[in-house]
Amino acid sequence: MTGAPTAGRTPGPAAVLCGLGGWLPPKVVTNEELVARLDTSDEWIRTRTGIRQRHVIEPGMSTGSLAVEAGARALKSAQQDSVGAVVLATTTPDRPCPATAPEVAARLGLAGVPAFDIGAVCAGFVYALATGAGLIATGTADDVLVIGADAYSTLLDPEDRTTGPIFGDGAGAVVLRRGEPDEPGALGGFDLGTDGHLSDLIEVPAGGSRQRGSGVPAGPRDHYFAMQGKQVFRHAVLRMTGSVHKAVGRAGWTVAGIDRLAAHQANSRILDALTDQLELPRERALSNIDRVGNTAAASVPLLLADSVNEGSLRAGHSVVLTSFGGGLAWGSTTLRWPQLDAV
Ligand code: UT7
Repeated sequence: MTGAPTAGRTPGPAAVLCGLGGWLPPKVVTNEELVARLDTSDEWIRTRTGIRQRHVIEPGMSTGSLAVEAGARALKSAQQDSVGAVVLATTTPDRPCPATAPEVAARLGLAGVPAFDIGAVCAGFVYALATGAGLIATGTADDVLVIGADAYSTLLDPEDRTTGPIFGDGAGAVVLRRGEPDEPGALGGFDLGTDGHLSDLIEVPAGGSRQRGSGVPAGPRDHYFAMQGKQVFRHAVLRMTGSVHKAVGRAGWTVAGIDRLAAHQANSRILDALTDQLELPRERALSNIDRVGNTAAASVPLLLADSVNEGSLRAGHSVVLTSFGGGLAWGSTTLRWPQLDAV
């Protein structure tokens, strides 16, 4: 057999991160506001999840509008007004059909370029990064705008205290350009994986072809997001730990040499368990979960933007990105953080 790429190694030119932006809708919902309508407490939410508040969209906004704001900021940070492709990670598209990315691209003045959605739930951004890197490696595009955007507030059961406090809306984006593997910002190899045997642990039961094709109308709560939290927690720690080890190995790094861990922000206790499993000092894990909650596909790029803006992520840091979510799906990659401004 000839020509088969070695697993985890990106053939061809590298994809180099050269722009970054994040955006949150202005409306904030505090824990106190949730306590007024759900059987919960600020103390439970803070101690069990680390979340103090989350941002949510208001009427007239959507995942697409979040993506446009974050995408515009990433382009500005890259000092570019065009790219060769747009990849949008989301599981809350504006409509079931068509994909949201073409309209986002058009609103950014990028009509004409390839633009499509990637659905890997909370792992979506790392999958979209891998896809963007692939577009560059194959020569399909010289630069790619990769966006993670979600509006989970639109999927939440207003009476479910187990999901209501956790999720928030937002978007983050990066620009990737063609470059050299040893440049700051060059993405290392990817570790990606799924376990579809466990697809029922995180789901929206209705609205897809399975429910529609059955001819049985959806139940009253079937359009809402549902999660078996305890099991998901366990798998999140297990899978992200394994995936970080693999991505770090592919980069030729050691886990101890990770300066910053940019992990999906699902629960502060998951972050603590993950750093403990990796035997990393907890302060190496970047975190903004207290302010934004779990923003699904937006989580990792929003975290990067917030961390650059507050100075906890700086040029030269060796960074591992890792994420986990419904599917089950997980993924990780590495990069040496480049000199750039988030906006
Ligand atoms: O982004 C995709 C990946 N997602 C994740 O990784 C999420 C992973 N899961 C989690 O973060 C956690 O499992 C949750 C935050 C969802 C739940 O925390 P937990 O510590 O696993 O709680 P639990 O489900 O075991 O529930 C413990 C108790 C239960 O009461 P009993 O049975 O012990 O009396 C729940 O009914 O806490 C109760 N509970 C609540 N109490 C007050 C559950 N939700 C709430 C709430 N307020 N909001």
